[in-house]
Amino acid sequence: MPIQRVRSKWAKTDVLLADPILREYVPSTRSFEQSTVKQMLEQYAMIYVKPIHGTFGSGVIRVEKNSESSTPYSFQSGETKYSFGTFNEMFRKLQKVKKRKAYLTQQGIELLKYNGRRFDLRIMVQKNPQSQWESTGMIGRVAHPRKIVTNYHAGGTPMPVNTLLKAFLSSEQWNRYDTNLRKLGVDTARALEKRFPRIKEIGIDVAIDHHLRPWILEVNTLPDPFLFKKLPNRSVFRKIYYYAVAYGRFKARKRNA
Ligand SMILES: Nc1ncnc2c1ncn2[C@@H]1O[C@H](COP(=O)(O)OP(=O)(O)O)[C@@H](O)[C@H]1O
Ligand SMILES: [Mg+2]
Repeated sequence: MPIQRVRSKWAKTDVLLADPILREYVPSTRSFEQSTVKQMLEQYAMIYVKPIHGTFGSGVIRVEKNSESSTPYSFQSGETKYSFGTFNEMFRKLQKVKKRKAYLTQQGIELLKYNGRRFDLRIMVQKNPQSQWESTGMIGRVAHPRKIVTNYHAGGTPMPVNTLLKAFLSSEQWNRYDTNLRKLGVDTARALEKRFPRIKEIGIDVAIDHHLRPWILEVNTLPDPFLFKKLPNRSVFRKIYYYAVAYGRFKARKRNA
């Protein structure tokens, strides 16, 4: 049986929202509609709209409402920013800029910054050779200074997580935090496996907000293991690769994000 890949962000988010513990880590997520965008902007002031079948951060748009401004509505796609006086003007342009595919709307999380650049984390969770889920690696991704996504393929820079969180946590706090994130990774994998029984690995994109609360932005099935080659600690990638070979990831299968 081949390894399962689930592309739909909706299908995966639904599983997490159905779990009483995991749902607390998922930002409010709804389908893309004019009324939803308007309502979520009122509620959260900043939201992300993203393709349900997207990768590499492509097509992702950050929409904001700032009541203090003379142009309260704005959004950014790629490096381009647009601002508007009214919601309707903004929404008209948003529909033009957005790709012609299905989108979802998600509560925006204000990411922590490192040297003025936003960052989030990727947690790699794999079936180990004993068929148990294990969080095998964690890596930070620092956004390109002019972009709203942290993806490596959009100019993001991979960095060790402890370097990024040093300014926010003592080393003792970091140890506890690391353990909790790894547990969140395993819990997420177990929940997804119930619905998608042939998954062998997941890569979770986790945002950390200013209260240091972790949020699951999305889960990737068949995530890119080679990202972890960028870590100075070579043993992380070695283990990831070893596990992946053990469950047959590289037998005539394309590398995917
Ligand atoms: N709700 C959100 N709040 C803040 N940033 C987000 C949010 N959703 C996505 N992002 C940013 O956009 C990036 C790409 O979004 P993601 O959902 O992971 O789609 P993709 O499949 O294209 O990687 C994330 O890694 C993160 O940097
Ligand atoms: Mg992602």
